[in-house]
Amino acid sequence: MCWRQSLKQGMNMAYTWSSDLETGNTKIDHQHEQLFAAVNALWDAYRSGKGRQEVENTMEFLLAYISKHFADEEALQEKYGYPEYLAHKRLHTEFKSIAHRLVTELSQDGPTDKVIGDIYATVGEWLVTHIQGDDFQMAAYVRNKEDEAQKRT
Ligand SMILES: [Fe+2]
Ligand SMILES: [Fe+2]
Repeated sequence: MCWRQSLKQGMNMAYTWSSDLETGNTKIDHQHEQLFAAVNALWDAYRSGKGRQEVENTMEFLLAYISKHFADEEALQEKYGYPEYLAHKRLHTEFKSIAHRLVTELSQDGPTDKVIGDIYATVGEWLVTHIQGDDFQMAAYVRNKEDEAQKRT
């Protein structure tokens, strides 16, 4: 099922990993899949009434994994001299501040429908858009560079 269809189903939605999100870079794709799993874990923790601490823990994990993933992507771009490196890094930085704002909301208001729905939609939507645009572009560039390097050996 495509993620857009599942989103329309309302509060029981789930971001479903599908091939239209694959960049073709195994490591990056694995991390993206884990990010979706983390977003869904947050949602599940809330929906199943696991309590504030558990929800905050899943949010902390999501945030830490986002930082790790961004750092790995940026290192890959630096390694291959990706011309859009700075612009891509800026997008990551902007998103990290959005994520921090969401964490603040969560710690101030607790896990409410509004806060969790906001986190879920904002993070999920951003990931899909960023992956299918900027990350696809980066992965294509890296793949070319890797192919070139292979031909030389
Ligand atoms: Fe990414
Ligand atoms: Fe990225």
